[in-house]
Formats: sequence, structure tokens, C-alpha cells
Amino acid sequence: FFAARQQQDLSGKKILITAGPTHEAIDPVRFIGNHSSGKMGYALAIECRRRGADVTLVLGPAPEILKQDLLGITVINVIAAEEMYQACLEHFKTSDIAIMAAAVADYRPARVSDIKIKKQEGGLDLNLVKTKDILASLGALKSAHQLLVGFALETNNEEVNALEKLRKKNADYIIMNSLNDGVAFGADSNKITIYSGKGEKYSFDTKSKNEIARDIIDAVLHDHAVQTV
Ligand code: CTP
Ligand code: CA
Repeated sequence: FFAARQQQDLSGKKILITAGPTHEAIDPVRFIGNHSSGKMGYALAIECRRRGADVTLVLGPAPEILKQDLLGITVINVIAAEEMYQACLEHFKTSDIAIMAAAVADYRPARVSDIKIKKQEGGLDLNLVKTKDILASLGALKSAHQLLVGFALETNNEEVNALEKLRKKNADYIIMNSLNDGVAFGADSNKITIYSGKGEKYSFDTKSKNEIARDIIDAVLHDHAVQTV
């Protein structure tokens, strides 16, 4: 009985999740992107759905995830950071929890050529401008009953950087994964540390992304339950 109850502990909650990379067009055939697999965001979406939530997954170009079972999850496919931002803005208003697991490109070309750029003598200078920070934008809009969870991918000065992201972006939690822990980008397992806005720190061993998803949701719900009792 308890197991069944526990499985539905997100029933009635609407959860917004971002996952995957974004692709920022240079011209009709080229883009700037990264190697994010989308697996962490997908694992979170599945875990939230399993526990009864109404899940909206805003998914960047992550072909491996589209081959997975997405039953019961509302998927919004986007390509660029700007589209991901627009989709998130639209869905955040009605969300109880938002989890930003996407590896959003930090920069995009200042202008997109509408024809294929021809190769020329010498090099090519690309003028890049910053994309909108989706997590920080939602942090600025957040109301008291909404929970906002972000990630931080760090290689050095991990704790300082993660805590700065927590504060600057007005998130309730930052899930830090350190590339120093010997876990490869795109792997099925990872090692995380969770920092909360209330000053808590939870450290975990290397685990599968499915187990990490459960740890993240448990940590967020545990704190939240304590807060609302
Ligand atoms: N993020 C976002 N929009 C962006 C960039 C990042 O929503 N344009 C979110 C990510 O989804 C993640 C968090 O911000 O939840 C931190 O991303 P990360 O790349 O670690 O940090 P940045 O703030 O982009 O800083 P930097 O890459 O310089 O470390
Ligand atoms: Ca970044």
C-alpha cells in the first residue's frame, strides 16, 4: 500500500522539464551545438510521470531520446535556445515544479545567413551573442509556491560556481555534476551534489541516471514537505 501511495506522490502536480542540447544556426546547413544526450532530463521526465505528475518535456535535438518510450509525457520539440525559452515561458506559469536539465548553448551567431556561407581564402570570424538564460528568466518570474531546479556542470571550483548559479538564477536547487569525478559526458551514470537555497547540501555516490532522477525528486519533495507542514 505504501509503495503504491509513494509512487503517486506527484499526482496533481504539473512539472516542466528541459532536456538535450540546443542548436544555434549559422546558415541553413550548419549550427553551433554540444554533445548533450538528453538522458538526464528524460530520466527525470519518466520518474515524474511514474509518480503521477503531468509532465511537459521541452526537448532540444536529442535523437536518442526520441527513440525512447515517451508515453504519457507531453513533448515539445525545439531546436534553438530562443524556442526553448519561449516554450518554457508559456508553460512555467501553470507549473508547480520546473527542472532545467538542458545544456542550452550559451551563444548563438549574431545573424543567421539565409544562404550557405561559401568557403573563402583565410579564416572565418563568427560574431556570437549570448542566448537568454532560461533558468534565470524563470527564477525572476517564480512565485512563492513554485519550485525551480537547475543544473551546474563544472570542471573546477565546483562548489563556489554551483552556489553562485543557485543565487544568481534564484533557483531553489542546483544539481551539480562535476566532470572531475571521472564520469564521461553522455554516460548513463553520474555523480551529483545537490545544493538548496536554504543552505542544505546532499552528496551522492556515482549512480545511474534513473537512480539520480529518483534522488533529485526525493530531495526536492522531502524539503518541500518539511516546508509546507
Ligand atoms: N541554462 C539556461 N539557459 C541558458 C544557459 C543555461 O536555462 N542560456 C541553465 C541550464 O539548463 C542549467 C543551468 O542554467 O540548469 C546552468 O547551466 P550551466 O551551463 O552549468 O551554467 P551557465 O550559467 O550557462 O554558466 P557557464 O556555462 O559559464 O558555467
Ligand atoms: Ca552554459
